[in-house]
Amino acid sequence: MKINSSLFNIPIINNVIEFDSADSTNTRAKEFARRGSVDGSLFLAHRQTAGKGRMGRSFSSPMDEGIYMSLLLRPDMSFSHISNITLLVAVAIIRALKKSCNITAEIKWPNDIILNEKKLAGILTEAGQDYVIIGTGINVSNTCFPESIQETATSIFLETGMEINEFALIYSIWESFSELYNKFVSLPNIEFITEEYNKALVNYGREVYIIPYNVSKDSANPYDIASDNLTAYTCCGIDKNGGLLCKDATGIITTVSSGEVSLRGTKGYSI
Ligand code: BTN
Repeated sequence: MKINSSLFNIPIINNVIEFDSADSTNTRAKEFARRGSVDGSLFLAHRQTAGKGRMGRSFSSPMDEGIYMSLLLRPDMSFSHISNITLLVAVAIIRALKKSCNITAEIKWPNDIILNEKKLAGILTEAGQDYVIIGTGINVSNTCFPESIQETATSIFLETGMEINEFALIYSIWESFSELYNKFVSLPNIEFITEEYNKALVNYGREVYIIPYNVSKDSANPYDIASDNLTAYTCCGIDKNGGLLCKDATGIITTVSSGEVSLRGTKGYSI
């Protein structure tokens, strides 16, 4: 991947730091944030040795097979609004995949990007006292994955056979995000993207189960929908505050926020 200075044309980008190898670009970005790095610093790595996913999971990040990047922001907003930034990045990735690769991907609320019912990319947003780090990992040219995710993960190459221009995709993601983020900070709610988000939402109208955050259950020890007595809901999309609306069999709607739960479905990759 060739990073070039045109990234500085994007209003939100003020600094670009590229690593050949990093433990995790989120971890690097946090360290730079604590040392005073400016709002709009973008960290990219060609590989990660300890790539992180949500809920303590890892993110497989082999050399030059994916895009691994984190953006440091210093927004002046309450903690409750910050999780919505993840949803904005998801929309930016969907737009960018369409614009620069002609790929129509979907979103698994709140932070996974899905292509053909498999996970193509993930977003990990982490907040500190005066900063937010948005980490994005996209599987680009991978032809195989670690055993634990080989049934559920995919890459652009595996799905389309294309060798894409990675820089064009990176540029397009942050260009879209910049526009969405500037609008969001002036509001700050996400009503202006709910329709677009819900159109891309793979869970929309489908049966979903709300899984409480519980470190003892993971892909090696998953929830069992029947034996764990989970309630079935119909997914009705996100609301203007980014909560996911889930309707039970009696019509009662529960709104869940991304910090609390993950979703499990009945089809494909947890869909
Ligand atoms: C997830 O799948 O739950 C989120 C994955 C996020 C991966 C990206 S790669 C760049 C950044 N650095 C990390 O360690 N994680 C994020």
